[in-house]
Amino acid sequence: MSTSPVQTDPRAARAPRVDYRELIRDTQVHGTLYTSPEVYADELERIWYSTWVFVGHASEVPEPNDYVRKKLGPQDVIMTRDSAGEVHLLLNRCAHRGNLVCDDKAGNSTSFRCPYHGWTYRNNGDLLGYPYPNGYGGKNKLQLGLGRVPRVAEYRGFVFGSFAEEGPSLEEHLGAAKGEIDRLARLSPTGKVELTAGWLQHRTHANWKLLAENETDGYHPQFVHGSIFSVTGSPIGALYSEKSTAVTRAFGGGHSENDLRPEFRRFAEPMRWFGTTADRTPEYVAAMKQAYGEEEANRIMIEGAPHVMIFPNLFIAEIQVFNIQPVGPGECVQYSTAVQLEGAPELNQRMVSQSIGSVGPAGMLLADDTEMYERNQRGAELLEPQWLEVSRGVLRETTEENGAVVAGATDENAMRAFWRHYKNLMLEGR
Ligand code: FES
Ligand SMILES: [Fe+2]
Repeated sequence: MSTSPVQTDPRAARAPRVDYRELIRDTQVHGTLYTSPEVYADELERIWYSTWVFVGHASEVPEPNDYVRKKLGPQDVIMTRDSAGEVHLLLNRCAHRGNLVCDDKAGNSTSFRCPYHGWTYRNNGDLLGYPYPNGYGGKNKLQLGLGRVPRVAEYRGFVFGSFAEEGPSLEEHLGAAKGEIDRLARLSPTGKVELTAGWLQHRTHANWKLLAENETDGYHPQFVHGSIFSVTGSPIGALYSEKSTAVTRAFGGGHSENDLRPEFRRFAEPMRWFGTTADRTPEYVAAMKQAYGEEEANRIMIEGAPHVMIFPNLFIAEIQVFNIQPVGPGECVQYSTAVQLEGAPELNQRMVSQSIGSVGPAGMLLADDTEMYERNQRGAELLEPQWLEVSRGVLRETTEENGAVVAGATDENAMRAFWRHYKNLMLEGR
């Protein structure tokens, strides 16, 4: 972890502010974990400014000198691609007097000029120049630059940053969950995902962990999303029932998925996962068969896209990608975008329309979830009963060869695993 001489630096190592051994039990968690400013301060230090955090996708800065504004946890960063093609995460703060250097959401520029006194920076963060240099003893005398997120890494174009100078590599952090990103990419005939459809932002009055836990909670869809399932005649509700053969899998590292493949394999119909049939997407099906061969293409198109939560903030929900950004103990922003698959125009347009219908401003899916998050936050602020239950399915957990813990489609094993990892981070920093 980065260290700082400043006592109030949220990255400075210190003892946890509260006793996480007391607050996190195997099958119960304390309500104050969602409401306490001390817990949030510990999370900044031990999670958001320490572990790998999802920031954006390389396809958002495809050309040299492209840039886009992003968040890494609560930090305002500029994701740039320099003229040599390397991706950087630069803190949007001038080295002179701390002004914001970049206002535009995205653009193409080799440099950024601070509006306050005109200091200018290269898109790799180096200080390029400043007005009236004699006041500093001449040109190029100042050894300053924009703050840089010390570690930046990509997996299949998904860009992550870590404020810790050292620690596990991104691939170590992702562990078995990276296979789910592979699975998403394989749905493209060229094996490439693009996140270029633009991001919606929903400010949400709830603690970020309520969202992270909910992403692979297979217990709620039948109730919370009953209306969209009935209106659209969607078969998705049945995937999350007691009778479903789908499973909830905790990969370790706080990552988890709802693995719906057992249900899709039962039907063995290509494109069912997308709510359509192969004959309605003929160009895509032909491109997939060309790319992977008949048998493998069919398998990919039957099994469909992953539904995976990657700790702490990346949620791949089949056709959408979410980025959860904490703002404070009781507030966060949900960013969402439609997945776009290179070489699949027939699917891409539909993914955008379906995303607008489900997670757009008048969407029918996310609004219901968000209502639950905000009600949950208000409930968690009440004093009694103090604990939240995460015991569902604890008696039917099994452990797979690679250590993943599996239980039923509606079980809470993913939440238990989330909290085990969280507790380790808070107590041991890993
Ligand atoms: S604060 Fe940026 S140039 Fe002065
Ligand atoms: Fe939901």
